[in-house]
Amino acid sequence: MSVSPDRNLHAPAADETGAKMPRHVAFIMDGNGRWATARGLPRTEGHRQGLAALRKVIRHAGRVGIETITIYSFSSENWNRPQAEVSFLMGLLRRFVQRDLSELHEANVRIRIIGGRSDLEPGILALLKEAEDLTRHNTGLNLVVAFNYGARSEIVRAAQELAAKVQAGDMQPAEITEDAITAALDTSGLPDPDLIIRTSGEMRLSNFLLWQAAYSEFYFCDLYWPDFDEAAFDKALSCFCSRERRYGGLDAKAN
Ligand code: FPP
Repeated sequence: MSVSPDRNLHAPAADETGAKMPRHVAFIMDGNGRWATARGLPRTEGHRQGLAALRKVIRHAGRVGIETITIYSFSSENWNRPQAEVSFLMGLLRRFVQRDLSELHEANVRIRIIGGRSDLEPGILALLKEAEDLTRHNTGLNLVVAFNYGARSEIVRAAQELAAKVQAGDMQPAEITEDAITAALDTSGLPDPDLIIRTSGEMRLSNFLLWQAAYSEFYFCDLYWPDFDEAAFDKALSCFCSRERRYGGLDAKAN
């Protein structure tokens, strides 16, 4: 996989018309199972093709100068799927780290994992840590992998951390501000997603980045995730570029 390693992170990202590009795009990669079922294939084949689509998206994000992408790779609710499918997804994650990690590292991609870690199997935990440790000092595309992730539980963990500080006398209740909560989340230090893309026609957030999505733009498309490619990504980006973001204020024309 090649992602341009020498991208200048400080250059303002804009499309050819000068419209502002998103710094951070998050993906809910939905529809792998339906993609496979529609072809008479086992659901696992949908996940395999989903990984191929993910590789395309990572490459393209690097090419067009996006700073951060977050992928919802496995939710805390996905453990409720049949054991065989969960095992397959774990195997896919293992393959992704084993096969793609060195290439991603060479391409200067920095990998960051978000999600609960305390109840993860040691083998999986070691794999995630290896990916983070190897790429920690890279300065290119940030690839944030949401694994065993659920936004409500992320917020609960952050609240518990802050409450423990207050209890220890290291913090005053009034110091629990929006910034303090933001800094206690798994995504600490990352920009909020400008754009959240969900494939497969479903239009919901499914416990993904609830706090961080306060001002995100949403883009829903009917393609199943394995069919999401560079052209579909470009379409989502140009839709984003055509939107006016007001953050609760008025648009520029009204001023
Ligand atoms: C949702 O489709 C997809 C997932 C639960 C898993 C996403 C995983 C990948 C794209 C594989 C690559 C990622 C890594 C890093 C392992 P679904 O199964 O819910 O589809 P359905 O709604 O059609 O059943």
